[in-house]
Amino acid sequence: MRIDLSGKTALVTGGAGGIGKASATLLSRAGARVVIADINLPGAEEVAAELRNAAALACDLGDPMSVAETCATITAEYGGVDILFNNAGIISYRQGIGAVTAEEWDTVIDVNLRGPFLLCQGLMEGMKRRGGGRIINASSLAARVGGIEAGIHYAASKAGLLGLTRTLAKEGGPYGITANAIAPGIIATDPVRKQISGHEESYTSGIPLRRLGTPEDVANVVLFLASALSAYVTGIVVDINGGLYMG
Ligand SMILES: NC(=O)c1ccc[n+]([C@@H]2O[C@H](COP(=O)([O-])OP(=O)(O)OC[C@H]3O[C@@H](n4cnc5c(N)ncnc54)[C@H](O)[C@@H]3O)[C@@H](O)[C@H]2O)c1
Repeated sequence: MRIDLSGKTALVTGGAGGIGKASATLLSRAGARVVIADINLPGAEEVAAELRNAAALACDLGDPMSVAETCATITAEYGGVDILFNNAGIISYRQGIGAVTAEEWDTVIDVNLRGPFLLCQGLMEGMKRRGGGRIINASSLAARVGGIEAGIHYAASKAGLLGLTRTLAKEGGPYGITANAIAPGIIATDPVRKQISGHEESYTSGIPLRRLGTPEDVANVVLFLASALSAYVTGIVVDINGGLYMG
């Protein structure tokens, strides 16, 4: 069986790199039109140029005006989206509650939690009109077990996304909209590689599958949650962590 997303429009935030890029690529290969919204416009344009039927938009998720513009552009140009992957986020490493300033707290909560909320608010009515949709929110292992190296603000933002997801699942269900969260463990993207550089073995030895995750490991789950195969799956958190945490 082949996953076929032809005729579907997907918005992937943070698709210029890492998990977002891998997910945009798989969604595109499955036939979806993919719009990549990222604060890094040249990076988003580069990825979009590699894909069939893809476009890039500049969007700063931390700025409500920018998010509103993104929703308006997508609604005007594509009539809305069928798939919303709220992937963009700031991974902020801090040790101890005293290490996080009020400004850093606000920045991380604004980008990681308020941004996805505003995108859902701006695009969910359109999904209802289209007769259904798929919302996928990038939470984290940190929401499940607390921040390990990522700071308390990051863990709080990712845990907040779980409440957001479950509420969206309740509201969207009667309209055929599913909302699910993914909780990646340690995935080898640029910020993570930088953080664990030189100590990889100490991380992989604690993972039952004995390796870090790849962006593609996560993208495969995103593809499933975006597709018709997950039609009866909503309000859940999918852990993608090689067995590091088994809920
Ligand atoms: N890599 C991991 O181990 C891991 C684990 C758990 C959760 N996650 C989550 O997965 C998501 C992707 O992580 P990644 O490792 O691919 O990160 P990454 O840093 O490689 O990619 C993040 C993308 O988001 C974009 N971005 C950052 N701030 C933005 C903003 N204000 N507005 C719009 N775009 C913005 C960046 O330009 C980049 O393209 C994040 O939400 C992260 O918290 C990652």
